[in-house]
Formats: sequence, structure tokens, C-alpha cells
Amino acid sequence: MVQGPNHRLQIVVLGAAAGGGLPQWNCNCELCRSVWDGDGALVPQTQSSIAVSSDGEHWVLFNASPDIRQQILNTPTLHPGPPGHYGRRHSPIHAVVLTNADVDHVAGLLILREKQAFSIHASPSVLGVLDANPIFEVLDRDLVARVPETLEQPFEPAPGLEVELFAVPGKVALYLEAGARDAEGRLATDTETDNTVGARIRTTDGEAEFFYIPGCARVSDTLAQRLAGAELVLFDGTVWQDDEMMTQGLGAKTGRRMGHMAMNGADGTIAAFDGLDIGRKVFIHINNSNPAWLPHGRAHKQVEAQGWEIAHDGMEIRL
Ligand code: MLT
Ligand code: MN
Ligand code: ZN
Repeated sequence: MVQGPNHRLQIVVLGAAAGGGLPQWNCNCELCRSVWDGDGALVPQTQSSIAVSSDGEHWVLFNASPDIRQQILNTPTLHPGPPGHYGRRHSPIHAVVLTNADVDHVAGLLILREKQAFSIHASPSVLGVLDANPIFEVLDRDLVARVPETLEQPFEPAPGLEVELFAVPGKVALYLEAGARDAEGRLATDTETDNTVGARIRTTDGEAEFFYIPGCARVSDTLAQRLAGAELVLFDGTVWQDDEMMTQGLGAKTGRRMGHMAMNGADGTIAAFDGLDIGRKVFIHINNSNPAWLPHGRAHKQVEAQGWEIAHDGMEIRL
């Protein structure tokens, strides 16, 4: 990818879909079926991740999806550089920043084994989940630093790139829910802790900046104030309607129960962003049940009419 003189940030959507991807391995919902049948209405989409660089050479992944190997294959800028220059082992992936410990955001770390140096940056709680799971020891700690990041304190995971993590309403990862219930068995699904964070990503000179928030249960006042006036926001687009998994016969959970807000509706994301004066709004982490995937469908048209875009694998944005 050639960096234009006026661009300071390059963003590549590696995976636009939520956990499971589109299609999901065991799913016969209308959209997954459409892809299985190859009817041409939709192309497959991989799971939740973006890559960002300010120099076109050092890339930072935001989340490491189970589809990471395919995502690297699909993205020439993430292939190893020429052996004459870089030797037998190289990767442009300099660091991975995690926004939570969900399977769709951490499982790809296991693919990044093989004695390659990079660093992992995440909140203390999210790193704690990795530390408690011995399978992540396949990443040799002598080569792969795990760096706990204090919320709201900028750090530089790659040259020229500054990141700040902040709490957003959400919950612990699905597989940790049992241990997170209170004495009455209740589970908090929209508390602002370091279990689920958003990322403010900018060049170190502050010339370009955007937000990446692939999981969010609610737009709190704090979050609205933080995002107001932003040039670009990539935001949780898991479901179109809170109860769509239930109405489609796919499961018993609402979007809210999964820690995600719906795009549509009075308390949905489109309404919550109204008036925040954001330059470009892109939905990402979109579940295969979400009808907004369908380019000619009503939901998609409504999304676009409200000034939003639907991300897709391979989408490139430059700031
Ligand atoms: C989510 O985004 O809610 C999770 O990825 C769900 C899951 O872990 O399956
Ligand atoms: Mn997810
Ligand atoms: Zn499906």
C-alpha cells in the first residue's frame, strides 16, 4: 500500500463480522444460507479485527481474530517483507491491542506463535485472562511482551502511532460469565470496567485520529462526550434489532444480554449518535443475523440514509 502524502493513518478492516463470521460454521439463518448457496447476494466476511499503521511499515492489529491467517493472506501489506531485506522470518505486525477477551478477539493470538517478536497491549483485566489460560504460553514471553495498559493513558504500540484505551459499557467474555455473577446470580452486562474497552487511535503528532469500539452495550454520557466531533468512528454493529436472534430462531439472547446495543430503535446506536457531529460513522463487528448486511435491503438503506456505512473485509480508510 502506498502512503499518499496527505495521509497519516492507514486503516484496513481485516474482519467486519462479529463472532462466528458470515457465514457461521453451523448457521442456516437467511444470510448465512445465502452465502452457503452462493447466490451472489453476499460475500463471506471474517471475524472482527482491524489493522492500523502510520508509516505503512509497522502495523498494529486491534484484536486477533480466529480468522487471522486468512486475513493476513488477504492483505498483502501484512505479508512478510522481502527476504533480502528482512531475512527468513519477518512480519509487519508489530503489536496487537485487545479490546476485550472474547474468543473472536483473542483466539488469533494462538496463530501468531512461531517465535516472532511483537507486543500485546491490553487492560489489566484482559491480560489477566490471557495469563490465566496456559495455552497462550505458546507465545514465548521472551519475544512477545504482554504490556498492561492503564486506561486513559496513551501508549505507542508502533512508531508514530498513539493509542489510548477507555472503558465502555460492556461485560466479561462469555466463557467467564459464570464467575462474574453476584450473590443473587445476576450478571452485569453494561458496566464501564476494563473488561471491555474502546480505543482512541491517533498519530503521535495528533494530526489524525479515530475511534475503534467493536463492542459496546450503551452510549453513556461519558462516551458521547468523548466521541463528539470525531473525524471517524468504527462502532459495534452486532445486531440491527435487540431481539433478532430470538425472532430468527437462532438463540435465546438479546443483543443487550450479549453486551451489544442494537443499530435500530429509540435506544439504538443510530439514534444515540444523532447530533454528535461525527465525520464518518462505520458499523463493524456485524453479526450474521443482522439484515443490514444485505446491500439492497431495507435496514442497509436506513443505515446509509442516517449517514452510516457498513464495513466489509478489505475496506481501507485513510485519514
Ligand atoms: C460477543 O461479541 O458478544 C462475543 O464475541 C460472543 C462470543 O464470544 O461468542
Ligand atoms: Mn464478538
Ligand atoms: Zn447465520
